[in-house]
Amino acid sequence: MSFKPRIKILIADDVVELRSNVRRMLSGSEAFQIVGEANDGEETLKLARELSPYIILMDINMPKLDGLKVTEMLSKERPDIQVIIMSIQGEQEYLRRAMKAGAKDFLTKPFSGTELSETIQNVFNSWIKDRPEYLQEANRAQVLTFFATKGGVGKTTLATNLAVSLAKRGKKTLLIDGSLQFGDVGITLNLTPKKNLYHIVEKDDLTISTIERNITKHSSGLDLILAPHEPALAEAIKPNHIKLIIDALVTTYQFIIIDTPPKIAEMELAFLDKTDFVMLLATLEISSLKNTKICLKTFSDISFDTAKIKLILNKDIPNVGISPKDIEEGLQIPMYAVVPMDSETAQKALNTGEPFVGKFPASSLARAVEDIATKLLPNDAPPKQPDGKSSTMLKIKDLLFGT
Ligand SMILES: Nc1ncnc2c1ncn2[C@@H]1O[C@H](COP(=O)(O)OP(=O)(O)OP(=O)(O)O)[C@@H](O)[C@H]1O
Ligand SMILES: [Mg+2]
Repeated sequence: MSFKPRIKILIADDVVELRSNVRRMLSGSEAFQIVGEANDGEETLKLARELSPYIILMDINMPKLDGLKVTEMLSKERPDIQVIIMSIQGEQEYLRRAMKAGAKDFLTKPFSGTELSETIQNVFNSWIKDRPEYLQEANRAQVLTFFATKGGVGKTTLATNLAVSLAKRGKKTLLIDGSLQFGDVGITLNLTPKKNLYHIVEKDDLTISTIERNITKHSSGLDLILAPHEPALAEAIKPNHIKLIIDALVTTYQFIIIDTPPKIAEMELAFLDKTDFVMLLATLEISSLKNTKICLKTFSDISFDTAKIKLILNKDIPNVGISPKDIEEGLQIPMYAVVPMDSETAQKALNTGEPFVGKFPASSLARAVEDIATKLLPNDAPPKQPDGKSSTMLKIKDLLFGT
């Protein structure tokens, strides 16, 4: 079984009813995925840049910027996005101008569901015909697996907070709890695993709808596939399920982050097989370093591409006899990031079920995770850094001085 990537569509029309009609007409088919709706021309441009749809269904008369202007701007800036104009009878002159501006086809309102889906499919097919590589590369999520062969080094903590940080920056992000027996991503984010990986595979009908039905949403905008609610159910999940699920979702998301248990077996190899980067975690303990070294040796034995490894030192603390530099030299790979030890922040966040990137944004821990997110997004402007004062301090200052 394999999944065809779905055609990502943005609907741009200032009439809400038209947008919901289009959504309804396309909802029956797994070939399409509506990634967003825009109410005016400026919003269309903004969402086109952020969401990279393959197709925009574009109304002509929209507030702020009209559909013709947006089509013209996008055909220069984003020739990879195909515009289909939706117009009413009698707009023939506009239509001619729209095609000149770069639109690929048009639909005259009111149109049927069949007309709509055929037009989209035709425009998409003729564009993709000469670019088979496009779906494989340009619009694939970056898959990052947090990995370590020692327990308790902070895989779940960093995977969860990084995923929330990316989601808060507007990146479409999915976090998969690959710690199938004792996954604690759910508890870390105060979510109950009512829908989880087990429900995706239990009936042996692995479709995109089954997967999507079992995705849990977090208030930050992050999507999650949680681990089964009982350890015994993990048995039902096979490495091939994991590969199929990632294949099915890889063109839907910008980032897929995977949390793993501290071992290398068949399941972890399935995750690694689909991974672009392994976030390999170590701490400043001799046992962690020994295990990291063994892990690197295993990677080399299975010919895993070492360029995919990003070494992260977690729980960094000065004066313990080993420094980050010693680790780099000992393991002979460059350090990608260093995250400081900050037990108070880590525990408080964990115990309240709120990620520290949201609850304690000024903490050194949150800043270190935000730095990792910024590194992963070299073309984005970094978010505004909060000042170093804690929110409690600010509240006290507010109270005393009214500042
Ligand atoms: N940078 C840090 N500073 C202080 N404490 C931390 C830091 N990172 C993680 N912790 C704490 O370390 C403990 C273990 O973290 P976590 O559960 O994320 O590790 P793990 O690698 O996922 O463990 P497992 O292998 O059991 O899944 C938690 O109590 C967490 O709050
Ligand atoms: Mg964990």
